[in-house]
Amino acid sequence: MTDAELRDMVSRTLTCRIDKRENCSEKMEQFLKRCFYHSGQYDSEKNFAELDMKLRDHEKGRVSNRLFYLSIPPYIFIEVVRCASNSASSANGWTRVIVEKPFGRDSESSASLTRDLKQYLVEDQIFRIDHYLGKELVENLSVLRFSNLIFGPLWSRQYIRNVQFIFSEDFGTEGRGGYFDSYGIIRDIMQNHLLQILALFAMETPVSLDAEDVRNEKVKVLRSMKPLQLENVVIGQYKSHTKGSVTYPAYTDDNTVPKGSLTPTFAAAALFINNARWDGVPFLMKAGKALHSKIAEIRVQFKHVPGSLYNSSFGTDLDRTTNELVIRLQPDEGIYLKINNKVPGLAMRLDQSNLNLHYAARYAKEIPDAYERLLLDAIEGERRLFIRSDELDAAWALFTPVLKELEEKKVMPELYPYGSRGPVGAHYLAARHNVQWGDISAEHPLE
Ligand code: BG6
Repeated sequence: MTDAELRDMVSRTLTCRIDKRENCSEKMEQFLKRCFYHSGQYDSEKNFAELDMKLRDHEKGRVSNRLFYLSIPPYIFIEVVRCASNSASSANGWTRVIVEKPFGRDSESSASLTRDLKQYLVEDQIFRIDHYLGKELVENLSVLRFSNLIFGPLWSRQYIRNVQFIFSEDFGTEGRGGYFDSYGIIRDIMQNHLLQILALFAMETPVSLDAEDVRNEKVKVLRSMKPLQLENVVIGQYKSHTKGSVTYPAYTDDNTVPKGSLTPTFAAAALFINNARWDGVPFLMKAGKALHSKIAEIRVQFKHVPGSLYNSSFGTDLDRTTNELVIRLQPDEGIYLKINNKVPGLAMRLDQSNLNLHYAARYAKEIPDAYERLLLDAIEGERRLFIRSDELDAAWALFTPVLKELEEKKVMPELYPYGSRGPVGAHYLAARHNVQWGDISAEHPLE
């Protein structure tokens, strides 16, 4: 690519979020002029030394920092870090490296990746990215919990029946099967994105918003959890499905997926936190590709009202109509609280309604992409939303035994049709823990 081609590519996705009085196109021009394309081999120190020369030319002796963002296949992480660190570190400012997952595929490989990275970098230089932590509503989770008096007292086993973390995509692996097949949905979504949200949801109040204080609390939650048991996991894989005149492919129809692969594209799991606040509360996770909807949400189901005055003769089925707080991470961000309410009129009839916070209606603002926030944080040295190595170890410790067992026992995933709600096994798993999955399609929450 030439510099001009790179700039053209960048300009097509560049967003300008400056004060309206400033001139966006001028700012964009200035930014694009600073973008250069330089090609080289991942494992060539010589090529990195050339990059260093080129950067020096532009830096002209000023104090300059360098941030390497590695969105590359994991088997070349270390080579690149070695070359960058040995031959292209900043001479007078900081050098940082953003690493994209996968951070290994189990406890051992993750520990060995960390060990290898630390041959060339200290922990403070490593920014392990989990882009779910950069999502607006995940950032808001702590604000909701810790700046509103009403939620604090309810946030425990005393009032909460179960918590659900749901990730669903309405498309399959689509050409990414090569990467996906050696990881599977548990490693791709649960062990990182959903578990990170769970940790933020369940942690104790940190001493401050300082990165180390927040990450200390997250690690404590993760270390209080019991490793996931095989009996608490259901796995599935999508199969081909024809709807009207369209036939949707099976996972194994993807050319990059080995025939007969047992890799799960769907998983549901029940986890438990063994501490005073959460003992006995099921934390359920569900993640899947090629399902009927694209959504990511957190659902908090509260307990029944003890000795309620209002039984089913008032039009409510109190087993199903307990309070539920739903935090919809995407799409169409929102938060709603399901409450029981009197239907207006002379009769005493109850139904369930929502108290709504619909972002699009409340904030006439575009929500920044998760990566915008995280890249900016890395530049500013804000580590709060990046994964520390002890957090990563604790996360792997929870999932590694079950991942090994699934692979050793060659557990067959339950097949589900492309575009469906996923395997029925997920409902049985939830039912065993007295849980019913929340279902967005049965609600009209943000109307
Ligand atoms: C990535 C996973 O981390 O997150 C993908 O590897 C997944 O499989 C993606 O599609 C989802 O991210 P988002 O932000 O589109 O929900």
